[in-house]
Amino acid sequence: MVNDSDDVSGKVAVITGASRGIGAGLAKRFAHRGMLIGICARTTPAAPQINPALSPPDRVVASSVDVQSYEALESFAAEVVERFGRIDLWVNNAGVLAPIGALRDCDPTLFATNVAINVTGVAFGSRIFARHVRSREGGGVLINVTSGAAEAPYEGWAAYCGSKAAVNMITEVVALEERDTGLEAYAVAPGVVDTGMQELIRSCTPEQFPAVGRFLQIAADGAFRSAEWIADRLLDLAFTGADPALRTAGTALRL
Ligand SMILES: NC(=O)c1ccc[n+]([C@@H]2O[C@H](COP(=O)([O-])OP(=O)(O)OC[C@H]3O[C@@H](n4cnc5c(N)ncnc54)[C@H](OP(=O)(O)O)[C@@H]3O)[C@@H](O)[C@H]2O)c1
Repeated sequence: MVNDSDDVSGKVAVITGASRGIGAGLAKRFAHRGMLIGICARTTPAAPQINPALSPPDRVVASSVDVQSYEALESFAAEVVERFGRIDLWVNNAGVLAPIGALRDCDPTLFATNVAINVTGVAFGSRIFARHVRSREGGGVLINVTSGAAEAPYEGWAAYCGSKAAVNMITEVVALEERDTGLEAYAVAPGVVDTGMQELIRSCTPEQFPAVGRFLQIAADGAFRSAEWIADRLLDLAFTGADPALRTAGTALRL
C-alpha cells in the first residue's frame, strides 16, 4: 500500500470525469501526494482544495471536456503536456450508468450515449495516451475504470454491463499493442463507492433493477470504499509496486 512517504511527487496524471464522485476523490488524493494533475469532465472540475503549498493552482489543469469528442479530449491532453511536459498516468474514469431497465424498455438514444461515453470515450482516451507514450521515452500507465458488472450480468444494466465488458477487452488489446513502448494498461474495478451513481442505483424500483436490495444493504451497512483508498491502490499499481500481486493479476483487476 502506498503511504505518504512514497515519492510520486511531480508525476503527471490525467483523470477524466473528475468533477465529482470517484474522479474528484482521485484528483484530491493525487494532488495531496504532490502530483501534477490534468482533470476534466463536462462540468469543469474545481481544483482540489488542499494545502496550497502541496498543490498550488499552477499544478492543476482543469477543463470542460466531453469524452465523446475526440478533438476536445486531444486538445485537453495537449494542454496538459504543454503545461507539465509529459503525462505519466492516464485514468479514464468518466462513465455513466443510464439507461437502467430491461433492454426492451430502454431509450435507444440513451443506450447509444452510454456506449459513446463508456466505450468510445475510453477508447479515445486510450488512443491519445498510447500516442503520447509512443512520442517520448519512458513508458506510462493507462487505467480504465471498469466495474464488476463487466463480468457479472445484472438485469436492468444491459448498457452498463456491456460497455464495461468492452472496456475490459479494449484494455487487454491496448496492453498487447503497446507493450513494446513500456505502456502498461489495466482495467480496474474500484468496488462500491458512495457517489451520485450509487444514489441513482438506490433510487431504482425493483422492477427497473431487481438487484437494488443488494445496494440498499451496502448503504445500510456503510460498506463503501473510499476514493482515497482507491487512489492509493492506483498509485501503487502505477508507480510504487508495493503490492506486486496487483501487477501480476492480468489487465482486469478488482480492488
Ligand atoms: N461508484 C461506484 O460504486 C462504482 C463502482 C464501479 C465502477 N464505477 C465506475 O467509476 C467511474 C466513476 O463513477 P462515479 O461513481 O464516480 O460516478 P459519478 O459520481 O456519476 O461521476 C461520474 C463522473 O464522470 C463525468 N462524466 C460523465 N459523462 C461524461 C462525459 N461525457 N464526458 C466527460 N465526463 C463525463 C461526470 O461529470 P460531468 O457530468 O460533469 O461530465 C462525473 O465527473 C465510472 O466509470 C463508473 O462506472 C463506480
